[in-house]
Amino acid sequence: MSKLIIANWKMNMSAKAAMNFIPKIIKSKNLVAVAAPYTYLKRLQNKLPKYIKLSGQDVSVYESGSKTGDISAKMLKETGCAYCIVGHSERRIFKHETDKEINDKILNLLKVKIIPVLCVGENISQKRLGQTNKVLSKQLDGALNNIKKPGNFVIAYEPVWAITTFQKGKIKKSASVQDIKLAHVFIKQWLNKHFGREGKKIMVLYGGTVNPKNSFDILKLKEVDGALVGAASLKVSSFNAIIKFN
Ligand code: PGA
Repeated sequence: MSKLIIANWKMNMSAKAAMNFIPKIIKSKNLVAVAAPYTYLKRLQNKLPKYIKLSGQDVSVYESGSKTGDISAKMLKETGCAYCIVGHSERRIFKHETDKEINDKILNLLKVKIIPVLCVGENISQKRLGQTNKVLSKQLDGALNNIKKPGNFVIAYEPVWAITTFQKGKIKKSASVQDIKLAHVFIKQWLNKHFGREGKKIMVLYGGTVNPKNSFDILKLKEVDGALVGAASLKVSSFNAIIKFN
């Protein structure tokens, strides 16, 4: 089965670097998407081959109106975005985003048929206290609370402590294969309980220091439907090494 692999470029990469990057991405049997900054989404869309999809990194909680600086779901749709990340831990932590806001964003995306990529994951103290499942449940309940039929939807399990951004040491480490497996099983059970058969169609990705050294072992887990890749998606060679997973 092909996997979904999304590059999360965050606030990196100039428009010029991005335009040079795209033609160097190899054709993969996996589904590939690039979550790029707003400013050059449209330019990128014009350059993307059909097999690479475009993703936003965030969206406004509002649908439209006087919200200086915000970008609406409808605007993302106009740029050609197929996906949009919501609830990334960098936004939950640095911008104090709440589950209610994340829920509003998801509803806006679903209205315009952009596939939300909802990020969930525990921090290190929650992990040490054995609260991973409790945190995942709370985040999923909060973000998906009034959604009866999610339709096209993606979840990314991203334990905060495994994301490059939040690791202090020089050597960055992904979660263990066992941790990933357990969390994915839990998320899939949650989806099954809440959405029944529909829930089975939801892809659950892993994110947090995915790189060419660990990607094979992570992606080969049957519970893992793909990866959300930050730091390693900024270099063509490492991104290509990850998406060539077969
Ligand atoms: P990372 O980022 O691969 O650099 O850990 C993943 C993410 O933040 O989505």
